[in-house]
Amino acid sequence: MMQPLNDSQELPTLTLDGEEIAFTPGETVYEVATRAGKAVPTLCYDPRLEAFGSCRLCVVEVAGQRVPVASCTTRAEDGMEVATASAKVEGLRQTLLELVASENREVAVDALRGVASQELETLVEQYDAGRGRFAGAHSGRSRQDDPNPFILRDYDLCISCYRCVRVCAEQEGDYAISIANRGFGTQITVEFGGHLQDSACTFCGQCVQTCPTGALADKKALRFAGDGRLTGGR
Ligand code: FES
Repeated sequence: MMQPLNDSQELPTLTLDGEEIAFTPGETVYEVATRAGKAVPTLCYDPRLEAFGSCRLCVVEVAGQRVPVASCTTRAEDGMEVATASAKVEGLRQTLLELVASENREVAVDALRGVASQELETLVEQYDAGRGRFAGAHSGRSRQDDPNPFILRDYDLCISCYRCVRVCAEQEGDYAISIANRGFGTQITVEFGGHLQDSACTFCGQCVQTCPTGALADKKALRFAGDGRLTGGR
């Protein structure tokens, strides 16, 4: 267990893009970088949740490490030398975004889908990540017969960041949704592949608000906006 520092102890420091920054033991490289004003991109990260490390967009270079590391799951260490925006990591981020975006039907979604729904679109634009370089299989299938009146589940837009699954478990304690299969077969689902309204879901909407692509959306908000995609009731 991490011991608290007493007043006479100096905080450890790391070097971020050449600048020495003090940190509190236990902080991650991402937390230190963000606090220092660095714009490290993320997709699977939600500050309310345990870091998960799946999207790898937050990669940084650490001196002495053979390959870039995910900053959201890497603890800051005294004397570390970190590069948050080198040409190498920026290039990796662009390729990762191209891979992610290539799977989705679209990246530009209605902002009414949820507060985080523009995250992917914003990053794709920022990194000028084209969607044509990688083509092939797509993961995620929507159930066209889902009768729930509240939450649109449009899995053509799912990037398997699992923020919905994690917020449901970690913030709500509901464990209503989970992950089935792997790779291109990955599917966010409920028990026995049933309907959301027959699951432990309480329709709190946390999953909608954390989704970074608009794969999950508030049907009521879209209905008010006259969104035709609600016909067919996913
Ligand atoms: S934000 Fe760090 S791996 Fe996704």
